[in-house]
Amino acid sequence: MIQSIRGFRALIVAGLVGLTSSGCTDSKAQAESLSGIAPEGAEITVYLTPTCGCCSGWIEHMRAAGFTVNTVYQDNLTETQHRLGVPDDVLSCHVGVIDNYVVEGHVPAEDVARMLRERPQIAGIAVPGMVTGTPGMESMFSHGDPYDVVSFDSNGEVRVYESHR
Ligand code: CU
Ligand code: CU
Repeated sequence: MIQSIRGFRALIVAGLVGLTSSGCTDSKAQAESLSGIAPEGAEITVYLTPTCGCCSGWIEHMRAAGFTVNTVYQDNLTETQHRLGVPDDVLSCHVGVIDNYVVEGHVPAEDVARMLRERPQIAGIAVPGMVTGTPGMESMFSHGDPYDVVSFDSNGEVRVYESHR
């Protein structure tokens, strides 16, 4: 009797371990699926504040995708964001510059790579605000919220660039 209870408990524990290791925040699996996304020699300069935790999460994501990331720490980011032409309604916590394009917030590496491939007539792309489930904003407790990556141009016109739903 005691034997079978032990066996049963072992089964439950194994099941739980299996569940947690196949969860949506498995960073190892994520890193594998990211490799080779960045175009050859792609280098991005990212402006961020020294206290931002999710910023380093996004930078890790970009590095895992093969981007070379240079960081510039600033206490006040808004000036830089305005200088780079990021519209107020798409602002987030960090801003990057790559090949004359601007990348604002937690944009997935695939979308940055697509922009560099297709070279659209836009100033940049953004994920406005801070959306749970975006790269660098992963949560243990949820698969994340649906969100759009938007593009913006020099006139401040904002459009949907890619939907993640
Ligand atoms: Cu953030
Ligand atoms: Cu950030």
